[in-house]
Amino acid sequence: MNGFSKDFLWGGATAANQYEGGYISGGKGLSTLDAITGGSHTSPRMITYKTVEGDIKKTNRNDSLPEGAVGYIDPNTYYPSHVATDFYGHYKEDIKLFSKMGFKCFRMSLNWSRIAPNGTKDLNEEGLKFYDDVFDELLKYGIEPVVTINHFDIPMYLADTLDGWSSRDVIDYFVFFCETIFKRYKNKVKYWMTFNEINFLRSWTQIGIHNNDDRTKYQAAHHLFVASAKAVKIGHEINPDFKIGMMVAYIPSYPMTCKPEDVMEALTFNREKEFYMDVQCKGYYPAHKIKEFERKGVVIKKEIGDDEIIKEGTVDYIGFSYYMSTVSSTDPNVQRTGGNQVTACKNPYLEVSDWGWAVDPLGLRISLCQIYDRYNLPLFIVENGFGAVDKIEEDGTIKDDYRIDYFKKHILAMRDAVQLDGVDLIGYTPWGCIDLVSAGTGEMKKRYGFIYVDMDDTGNGTLKRIKKNSFEWYREVIASNGSCLD
Ligand code: BG6
Repeated sequence: MNGFSKDFLWGGATAANQYEGGYISGGKGLSTLDAITGGSHTSPRMITYKTVEGDIKKTNRNDSLPEGAVGYIDPNTYYPSHVATDFYGHYKEDIKLFSKMGFKCFRMSLNWSRIAPNGTKDLNEEGLKFYDDVFDELLKYGIEPVVTINHFDIPMYLADTLDGWSSRDVIDYFVFFCETIFKRYKNKVKYWMTFNEINFLRSWTQIGIHNNDDRTKYQAAHHLFVASAKAVKIGHEINPDFKIGMMVAYIPSYPMTCKPEDVMEALTFNREKEFYMDVQCKGYYPAHKIKEFERKGVVIKKEIGDDEIIKEGTVDYIGFSYYMSTVSSTDPNVQRTGGNQVTACKNPYLEVSDWGWAVDPLGLRISLCQIYDRYNLPLFIVENGFGAVDKIEEDGTIKDDYRIDYFKKHILAMRDAVQLDGVDLIGYTPWGCIDLVSAGTGEMKKRYGFIYVDMDDTGNGTLKRIKKNSFEWYREVIASNGSCLD
């Protein structure tokens, strides 16, 4: 018995700042991510910046920056986004490989500063044309583009001159950007998402804010909500067939014990991401968040009409990433482990990846049920995957059975959610379907792809593409619409 509809969107997912490269090619302007160094499991990625006094410094990519500091590209430092795995130069070859895997769709993001080098209203025709070419190439193979409008970066100019999304002016620039791309690609792209993992947008790196305190972070979030809602409305006016979604990092948390305090702790953890989902899917701020703001003295500056804009601009579907679950506990000595942008509590029942992320396929079914029960909107798993070190054998093969095992269990869990729980799931795009730079650590060593790319953590490599064993396996999954897993 197969739970997936015949038009289920099987594919893969990437993001411009981690995959595209070509950081100053074809008239592209700088974006914040261009000034973020590589890192590792144990050493954080750093922002290189220049102070108002002219000093060159660096700091952890999640830190606040001094007022007036501007992003700085140090000629002696290696920045992984500059070449990444060079989709810019390899898009035809890569799309051909995706088509061989049978992709029905391909998730990618647009580099805002490729289209508008400063993020303002001056456009770069060469950048617009690049994405035209990419979409044409995808459509040539019958692959539906799924576009994240903004994935973790902002043109450096907007970060440096306006303090990024803390400024209301950025809403207009973003909406102009959306209007531009909606009009330009209205016959090529149907599926859009406004902001990647909106619940994780909280630093200069991602949204250009210098001060990461709660007041600035939530003010910026309000601007993101208004901008997203305006984009949804304008998008539907430009093409009523557009499907415009939100995107959230979904990490479900279980109470460590049935102690009510642990249950409350888990509720509080889960509410943080639901806040972002509630605003974009239901169209209003949830009561618990308003109360939290009152307690913390966070006053959101809203303009008259903002609440209506948010109400009218709710999304058509929910896109989400799912890699892992976590646990909530009031015990300060609970064991910790790694996680996607969070330090998680260790679940004694689950194995973890080499980066400490808990592997929890049933958690994916639980997540799908939780989200669908709460919002009753179509769901799209736009990221899921297993970051691991891959080895090229002497015969040139890459035996990534651990990845196949991870995907198999997660796909079966999502099939249960469709077949047994009635969840309306429209697609599945595993993360980093071709190797790309890790967002969290800046490493190449942490690989997710079905396709290997010869590039290391210091920028050395031929960029040659090699199929891993999972390539053929995923091709069969897609060709059989999941039924080969029975
Ligand atoms: C998600 C992001 O949080 O997780 C991706 O949307 C990111 O950009 C992915 O790459 C995996 O995280 P990491 O740190 O392993 O690259």
